[in-house]
Amino acid sequence: MHPRKPSPPVPRATLSIRAKPIDDRAQKFFAPCPRGLEAVLAAELAALSAHAVVATDGGVAFQGPFALGMRVCLWSRIASRVLWQLAEAEYRHEEEIYRLARGVDWPHLFSARETIRVQVDAIRSPLRSLEFVTLRVKDAVVDRFRAAMASRPSVDTSRADMRIHVFLTAYKATVYLDLAGEALFKRGYRRDGLAAPLRENLAAGMLALMGWSGQTPLLDPMCGSGTLLTEAAMIAMNMAPGAQRGFAFEKLRQFDADAFRRMREDAAAGLRPLAPGLLTGNDRSAEAVASTRRHLQNLGGDALLAAVTLTQEPLESLAAPAAAGVLLSNPPYGERLEEQQTLKAWYPALGAWLKRSLAGWRVAFITADRAFPGGIGLKPTRRTPLFNGALDCRLYEFELYAGSRRTDRAPSS
Ligand SMILES: C[S@@+](CC[C@H](N)C(=O)[O-])C[C@H]1O[C@@H](n2cnc3c(N)ncnc32)[C@H](O)[C@@H]1O
Repeated sequence: MHPRKPSPPVPRATLSIRAKPIDDRAQKFFAPCPRGLEAVLAAELAALSAHAVVATDGGVAFQGPFALGMRVCLWSRIASRVLWQLAEAEYRHEEEIYRLARGVDWPHLFSARETIRVQVDAIRSPLRSLEFVTLRVKDAVVDRFRAAMASRPSVDTSRADMRIHVFLTAYKATVYLDLAGEALFKRGYRRDGLAAPLRENLAAGMLALMGWSGQTPLLDPMCGSGTLLTEAAMIAMNMAPGAQRGFAFEKLRQFDADAFRRMREDAAAGLRPLAPGLLTGNDRSAEAVASTRRHLQNLGGDALLAAVTLTQEPLESLAAPAAAGVLLSNPPYGERLEEQQTLKAWYPALGAWLKRSLAGWRVAFITADRAFPGGIGLKPTRRTPLFNGALDCRLYEFELYAGSRRTDRAPSS
């Protein structure tokens, strides 16, 4: 499938096309992720036995057999998607990209009944119009189908079965097929839309940055719809994040349903119950607590709900649920100026509560407000740049030493 060779003529066939076995030497993949999580995603992929793992800006390249792509879709908590590389070549103009995409044997990958969507992203590409490239890549896929059979896939820009990604650098074009389908942060348990939830893979990445692996108590005192708690529950229960959803690769001709059923069965066999007392959530809003309950219920039924401690009160009146543990939270971030002023006025009370109630805990907050550490009067031990969607945030970590106040500073507001 070398992209530079002209593709051989494909016989026009009306007979159904059989899947070609995939060359199961190292296939190339790229897993995009929220910026700031590349290193923890690389570690996660290495633990899933990926080879040639290379973190770059916004994602991680890796290699392995095709089945690894399926395993990463099922098991990665941090990747946003898994892109399977189909072709790559240098280019100067749109027609070379057309030929590169035309060279991929699409009719052997999926049937003309599947809908398609093409997405082109570029960094420093000299080409004028990415929309035109998108159109030419779509033409290439359709032309390749037309040459092989009477039917062709149609385009669906919102819920396509097959998402084709093209990535352009200044001189190189790479064609990928998205094995995940819907983005991987959609785990399947969230069925309502309470405002401003964290993306699930960002929450999982924050837990990974804190080194939380389900051994120590975890508290989210402003849990909102419970994203951090549900991700933590999945980690502690060794639950595959993709256990409750399907993937685009299940519609590929070569899909090995038996192998994937075994992968799902192995995942189900490895499930452990959640230890009561490990996870504590709180929010002052009744609506937020109800949403967290629903999500835990969707994820693990009554047993999971019963194992998580949930309260509804202002955090200032909460007592620490254990002598030591990890507090991880996503405080409100005001969009409007008055909201930001109200928040800033509240920070000293938050700082005072942390010092009063959580000595001995490791504490971290994700926020876009750079005045946060000064506001709560604590010096961060680490600050990690992270993007929450388009919001340029920091994960601020603090150590609250038991019996000592070495990190304390006077609140600046
Ligand atoms: C940005 S949201 C958290 C979103 C959450 N991480 C999620 O993924 O759904 C902040 C939450 O903090 C809660 N909150 C704000 N001030 C609080 C306080 N003093 N005590 C308890 N909860 C508070 C709000 O009700 C809101 O649900």
